[in-house]
Amino acid sequence: SLTVPLLWLMSYLVGALPFGYLVGRWKGVDLFKIGSGNIGATNVGRVLGRKFGILVFVLDFLKGAIPVAVVVPLANLVSSDVLPTFGSADVLRVGAAAFAFLGHLFPVYLRFRGGKGVATGAGAVAVLAPVPFAAALATWLLTALVSRMVSLASLAAVAVLSAVQLLIGGSAVVTGFCVLGSLLVAVRHRSNVGRLIRGTESQIGDGLMRQN
Ligand code: G3P
Repeated sequence: SLTVPLLWLMSYLVGALPFGYLVGRWKGVDLFKIGSGNIGATNVGRVLGRKFGILVFVLDFLKGAIPVAVVVPLANLVSSDVLPTFGSADVLRVGAAAFAFLGHLFPVYLRFRGGKGVATGAGAVAVLAPVPFAAALATWLLTALVSRMVSLASLAAVAVLSAVQLLIGGSAVVTGFCVLGSLLVAVRHRSNVGRLIRGTESQIGDGLMRQN
């Protein structure tokens, strides 16, 4: 049946909704051309102010969380033999998570130029793997508080997410998503890693960076 592939396609189309870019356009800026050049909540906050950053974080988080939360109930609603065919509820949920996450990174609506995946990945793992998510959230908050650098906090958080998921040894597909997703988040932060090494990464409250 096409039920699961269609639900995964819908997850992609939801994940691809470029809330940061749209809020930027609404306020008259092109986020690709200002600040870090990213369409995520951090750059929105940097360019448009904290309350818009929080708005975009919440929307980007929800587009990761909602597909994961609804995919199994929706599949069961459409047909009762979906779960046996696909092996397990975890496979359905991880598929929804991966498609929503990849939607954010590679959105069809913006010619596949997307974000770094922190907020959308956080939404997905909050539902998929709540304990590693909680550890990652605590790590993010502590690192952001101490360093005032969102990118460093995000990199520390994905490292802890993967480590804790591997340690508690949950479902293999969930672990695969956590580890591969964390690697992708790290790869998407390569310009930040360069700035961190050079000592030029922007800090919370800095406002606009001089260079990208
Ligand atoms: O989630 C992205 C954040 O970790 C860094 O954002 O705009 O500083 O590159 P930005």
